Amino acid sequence: MTSATIEVHLVEDDLLSALRSDVLTGLTSSPKVLPPKWFYDARGSELFDQITRLPEYYPTRTESALLHRSAGEIAALAKPDILVELGSGSAEKTRTLLTALDSLRMFVPQDFSPAALEEAATAVKSEYPHLVVHGVVSDFTETLHNLPGGGSRMIAFLGGTIGNFAPDERAEFLSSIRAVLQPGEQLVLGAGLVIDESVLVPAYDDAAGVTAEFNRNVLRVINSRLGGNFDPDAFRHVARWDAQNNWIEMRLEATKAMTVRIEDLDLDVQFAAGEQMRTEISAKFTTDGLRSELATAGFETTHIWTDDLDRFALVLATAR
Ligand code: AVJ
Repeated sequence: MTSATIEVHLVEDDLLSALRSDVLTGLTSSPKVLPPKWFYDARGSELFDQITRLPEYYPTRTESALLHRSAGEIAALAKPDILVELGSGSAEKTRTLLTALDSLRMFVPQDFSPAALEEAATAVKSEYPHLVVHGVVSDFTETLHNLPGGGSRMIAFLGGTIGNFAPDERAEFLSSIRAVLQPGEQLVLGAGLVIDESVLVPAYDDAAGVTAEFNRNVLRVINSRLGGNFDPDAFRHVARWDAQNNWIEMRLEATKAMTVRIEDLDLDVQFAAGEQMRTEISAKFTTDGLRSELATAGFETTHIWTDDLDRFALVLATAR
């Protein structure tokens, strides 16, 4: 194989009908809600990359450091032939694993954003020419159904994206990962830990306003894909720590009463002044909680690495 191959499972029509259905359901619910996956068009993926470099956003650099520290141990404990990375984005941090895993023959980055995926797959292929690199543009769940065989697999799900699921969806997702693995195959999971609100909230409400722009990007996606007329500047970014549920909740707050028209849905949506719409949850965990959720899904936790400030955990788990 001389270059990266890309397999696109999300045809434009599927994407549009999924967006239509999410927007119709979400904007006619009370309270209104939009799923976070629609942040990530090319601009949204680029804004997320900027977030990862913000001083307040500790998860990415903390996880990178953990990967550096643990890569040798991971490589000693697991000898995968194939690394599948769910939601790889730029696959920046994954380089550490790709370098350490000397048994590796194939890398399968998966992402929802074609632009981000193509860039990542091409870059990895040129840096690791001995690897077969096969990118998949899809929803997580679909990649799991089409997991490559022909060797032992390791699935990486990094960055704390597991926190985007509600608890019941999370349990279902972890079980579906377990279901596609053979006993002995591995999962590497990155997850944010419950820490002080004074550190958590700024990470999701940075001084430069990049997260606010990222949050409002979902409105721009609806405008351009579904003929909406949202005025993104009329929405204020809100990030709240929910101590009952142990999650950060991002919302968009209407700064005045508005009627928004979504042409392609023939839908007029009223917003009251001050009305808040949820756009993301980002759940945080305890190491015990991670162990027990993984056990329920059929994994044995082999090792958990945490940073000195206990802000983030990197988990190596083995399918039982
Ligand atoms: C990509 C889901 C891991 O929850 O921290 C960053 C997304 N949202 N800032 C996270 C996000 C606001 C991020 N994940």
